[in-house]
Amino acid sequence: MKRLTTIQELESALTLERKKGHRIGFVPTMGALHAGHSSLIERCVTENDCCVASIFVNPTQFNDPKDLETYPRTPEKDAAMLEQGGCAYLFEPSVSEIYPTPDTRQFDFGPLGTVMEGAHRPGHFNGVAQVVSRLFDLVKPDTAYFGEKDFQQLAIIREMVRQQGVSISIVACPIVREADGLAMSSRNKRLNANEREKAPQIADILSKSRIFAAENSVSNTVQFVCERLGQDPVFRLDYFEIVDGRTLQAVNEWSNPDYIVGCIAVYCGPVRLIDNIVYKHAD
Ligand code: PAJ
Repeated sequence: MKRLTTIQELESALTLERKKGHRIGFVPTMGALHAGHSSLIERCVTENDCCVASIFVNPTQFNDPKDLETYPRTPEKDAAMLEQGGCAYLFEPSVSEIYPTPDTRQFDFGPLGTVMEGAHRPGHFNGVAQVVSRLFDLVKPDTAYFGEKDFQQLAIIREMVRQQGVSISIVACPIVREADGLAMSSRNKRLNANEREKAPQIADILSKSRIFAAENSVSNTVQFVCERLGQDPVFRLDYFEIVDGRTLQAVNEWSNPDYIVGCIAVYCGPVRLIDNIVYKHAD
């Protein structure tokens, strides 16, 4: 695996790959890699001739400076994992390489961008769109891989690609969990022993809510999740919403639409975690 830090190095390496007729797959990340990231790399390596990963802790998507400051960074361990997974190029640019001048672009994703994470983390998706569009421009991948753990991010990226008319296919990869059910996240490293022990309750309550949902209304299912989480003071719910899996707008009944997902953001101690569960999917 080649480790590249400048745009020039990246562009010359990928021009050669393209000249060979190679299909380029891309996995953007912020590092502190875990098995969730590895699953994206594995899929990317399998489906393309050349797998490119990036590690860039993007300052423009952090609305909380403390979160940016404390974001875990494990570059050498990450590089070893990527190499092991068969990644061909790791792009690790500096902030000035990605943003030589401040990025002032404003994206508009309509109703997709104003709910849930969009409402609770102002500017977050604008920052995600800034960096992902920049990285797409540099890497020009045929296909890019994103995790369903960040369910709304995936919808935003699809919408961005649609709006910009670029021909990059976006592949959604399922959530990878710890053995106890906790969705893998770089932020899990920041949980203390007590918080780590309790955090799997989030996935457990979501999973129980799916059984509850089979015989109860949408609003009672929302209440079920909120009440269960409220039973332990280690948790502070940011939001839980049951939404249309395509438009991300809240739904009132199970009969419509054919794709329904519950999305949650909850503080476990000081650490904000997100997760989601599919209640209904027609496919
Ligand atoms: P990061 O949180 O590092 O995640 C990189 C990719 O890994 C995202 O597509 C995310 O959804 C996926 N991922 C994370 N945890 C996962 C899990 N448990 N199972 C499956 N996939 C998982 O998301 C970002 O970085 C950034 O916002 C980024 C897109 C790189 C832009 O800065």
